[in-house]
Amino acid sequence: MSQVLALKYRPKSFDGIIGQNSVTQTLSLALNQDRLSHAYLFSGLRGSGKTSTARIFSKALICEKGPTATPCEECENCKMANENRHIDIIEMDAASSRKIDDIRELIEHTKYKPNSARYKIFIIDEVHMLTKEAFNALLKTLEEPPSYVKFILATTDPLKLPPTILSRTQHFRFKQIGQKDVVNHLSHILNLENMKYEIEALEMLSRAGNGSLRDTLTLLDQAMIFSKGDITAPSVASMLGLLDPKELDLIFETILNKDKIKMLEILKKLETYECEVVLDEIIAYLKSAFFKSESRFSTLLYERFFRILSEAKNLLYINADNSFVLSLVFFKMIEATNIKTIEEIIENLENEKFRVGQNEVSPMTNTNQGAPTLKKEIMIQEKRVPIYESEFSKLITLLKDRNIDVGNCFEQSISFIGFENKTLTMNSHANENCKKILRHASSIIKHFVQEVFGIETIIKMQKSSPKHIEKKNESKEVQAKLKPETPNHEGENCGSCVAEHLAKDVKEIDANEILSAPFIKKATELFDVKKIEIHPKV
Ligand SMILES: Nc1ncnc2c1ncn2[C@@H]1O[C@H](COP(=O)(O)OP(=O)(O)OP(=O)(O)O)[C@@H](O)[C@H]1O
Ligand SMILES: [Mg+2]
Ligand SMILES: [Zn+2]
Repeated sequence: MSQVLALKYRPKSFDGIIGQNSVTQTLSLALNQDRLSHAYLFSGLRGSGKTSTARIFSKALICEKGPTATPCEECENCKMANENRHIDIIEMDAASSRKIDDIRELIEHTKYKPNSARYKIFIIDEVHMLTKEAFNALLKTLEEPPSYVKFILATTDPLKLPPTILSRTQHFRFKQIGQKDVVNHLSHILNLENMKYEIEALEMLSRAGNGSLRDTLTLLDQAMIFSKGDITAPSVASMLGLLDPKELDLIFETILNKDKIKMLEILKKLETYECEVVLDEIIAYLKSAFFKSESRFSTLLYERFFRILSEAKNLLYINADNSFVLSLVFFKMIEATNIKTIEEIIENLENEKFRVGQNEVSPMTNTNQGAPTLKKEIMIQEKRVPIYESEFSKLITLLKDRNIDVGNCFEQSISFIGFENKTLTMNSHANENCKKILRHASSIIKHFVQEVFGIETIIKMQKSSPKHIEKKNESKEVQAKLKPETPNHEGENCGSCVAEHLAKDVKEIDANEILSAPFIKKATELFDVKKIEIHPKV
């Protein structure tokens, strides 16, 4: 009678255990260096190799040439262990023998020396199923068994074990087996079985097995029958109720071509599939495309697609209409390919609304050699200002800590303009009272400025009327002021010549007008809106 693959290919040596290198390596070293414990605990996902490893380890302990990580496979002990009939290897299933009496019987067994091997080994599977009383009865023996006794406990659920058991055992954690390892193992088995296969089909099987090799091998058994000698992706897809990879290619081609008519046809065909399965398949498809660095999708597009897909999964949890969820997903994905990047939106904003062309700025750049165009200035400011503004806030906090009046005056009447070439430029609109307080505290302010911005920092202060500041605070979302108030310089500032020059040609932008522009409205709907302050270089 032919055996199921999981049993036929149960590994017989540590080399045959796949995807659990840290476990097999540590056990091999312990065997070869004779540093053995009396109790081991193997925990991890079902079908990940715990029982197989326990049996190999037991054989390694009792081999006549051992204990050794590479048992001879020829001695009587090895042979009987391989046939699963060694009298000194006792396997107990705690799921069916979970009572205190079962454990008492086991303890009774430990009192007799092994029959023919050097150790008597107890493998207790699904140990978390033991009753509380049974655990307590086991504790004493587990802690101090006779020298010839070894325990190997195995469980899928170590959290259910009492800490007293955990602390008496060496704990080995079995991992989910990686997809690559599983696919290699399946193809190795199929080669031995002389069976044709497509690698995509094995990938689908391994995904469906979720890291459990036993589950995957059971599915492979099924696929071998279903596919009649040739395991192809479409046959496995149909067996598992999954989408054919070609179908997925077509879905993404349709999305990227924004072909809504074709998409409706596809949706009709997908009506027979489980929505959740389709979503999972799409996610797996995107994930694999991501790791292959496919140029069809940009990183931003991946992010948008994943967001749409996870939102759809949430909808399924609240029992939304499955086929409608799927339709929404596909049409949202088509929409997602339309949207511009944030950079493009900002670029447009600059080009269309500010209307600061190269022509208007170039006369200034000619007279001021090497100076950037205003457009570049704006972009640099965008990036730089938030960084130094946080330093500026720190400065205010330090001043408040030292003297609350000075801190408050400073916060209310001094605003940050820029920090460049070790020069901190600020704008003052202090009233008489604040002026007095700030003047009095000038050495403290200087001290903290140097502490925050660096010891060599030079302070440049500009004055402006309170009206300027009121205006500045008016627009809440976006402040895009290109027309500067004519500053009353106390220190020399090169940027002010730019501002003066521009003041003639550029009209002030109304922030509300920008916010009501259709593409900004669209962007506001689609993204978490960030506030960006764009300051003129005054
Ligand atoms: N790491 C592995 N390497 C090779 N084969 C494995 C591995 N894990 C599982 N298998 C295959 O799956 C079958 C079952 O494995 P095993 O009984 O060792 O799993 P288990 O972890 O004890 O599972 P359970 O928790 O369900 O008892 C084995 O016969 C073998 O064919
Ligand atoms: Mg097991
Ligand atoms: Zn041997």
